[in-house]
Amino acid sequence: MRPHRVIVDCDPGVDDAVMLSLAFAARDALDIAGITTVAGNVGAALTTRNACLIRDIASRPEIPVFAGCVRPLRRASVEAGHFHGESGLGSLPIAAPRSAAESSHAVDFIVSTLLDAEPASVTLVATGPLTNLAVALGREPEIRRGLREIALMGGARNEGGNITASAEYNIYADPDAAAAVFGSGCTVVAFGLDATHQVRATPERVAAIRAIGSPPALAVAELLAFSNALPANGPSAQGSPLHDPCPIAWLLRPELFRLQPCHVDVETGSPLTLGHTAVEFRAVAGRPQNVLWATGADGAGVFRLLGETLAADAARAASAAHRAL
Ligand code: RIB
Ligand code: CA
Repeated sequence: MRPHRVIVDCDPGVDDAVMLSLAFAARDALDIAGITTVAGNVGAALTTRNACLIRDIASRPEIPVFAGCVRPLRRASVEAGHFHGESGLGSLPIAAPRSAAESSHAVDFIVSTLLDAEPASVTLVATGPLTNLAVALGREPEIRRGLREIALMGGARNEGGNITASAEYNIYADPDAAAAVFGSGCTVVAFGLDATHQVRATPERVAAIRAIGSPPALAVAELLAFSNALPANGPSAQGSPLHDPCPIAWLLRPELFRLQPCHVDVETGSPLTLGHTAVEFRAVAGRPQNVLWATGADGAGVFRLLGETLAADAARAASAAHRAL
């Protein structure tokens, strides 16, 4: 099967780092054009450094990283360090990355890659605030031609919010960017809290990842254990929700998710409900159903996929090391 060509836009971020580890390990299934980073969970300098660090752990030096927007389109920055630790990577040991990000800006990379792409050939995976993509769409609407879809983690309907009573963090952090993306006319596959709250890092699942024993698997287990230890993530027996790997898991095994067509509007004015995603499943004139909303997820299946992908990549690395002896 031909690999999916993807651009991954993220704000690592503990769960972004797990998402990147899964994406980097899925060598045959994903053709990663590049990683773009954005200010979100922590500042842009840290999200960029963190993406380069996870790239090092995954031994994928050939995949370029591009630093992006350092603040939202209009609003003041809202970080989420309380969920991700001061470094943005929880309790993971921090070293200087072996190689730095590219000199060109993330938005320039997104625009040039999508303008050069075959029609509907690239999936843009976004797991942070949507600032980079909104700026790219505003600068060059023609990039929509190269997009197959935008697969994003963001929003909430049945679950309520996680940063305010009515908003999920990625949308809340840059609501104007989110409104531009949902309103772009592109096909959006949205993995909000309704789905990601069904994907839980139970202690048994974390132990199974740790038992793989490779550097990426040990890093993922450390990241998940950090999240599980945060009182804000609820009782550890249930495990913390694993948000950002969901769009990648969908690309690899779409059967793990239940999707429903809808129209999504984003609140960009009200201080009370800023960043709320109004998800309309009913067919309403003038409200195109360009969004597929994830209403359900097979949490056990997502963790099986994560474990199998990391284990297969570990076996590949061990075999390559053996051949090199
Ligand atoms: O609400 C969860 C989202 O906010 C995830 O992308 C997490 O990394 C934070 O950015
Ligand atoms: Ca994120």
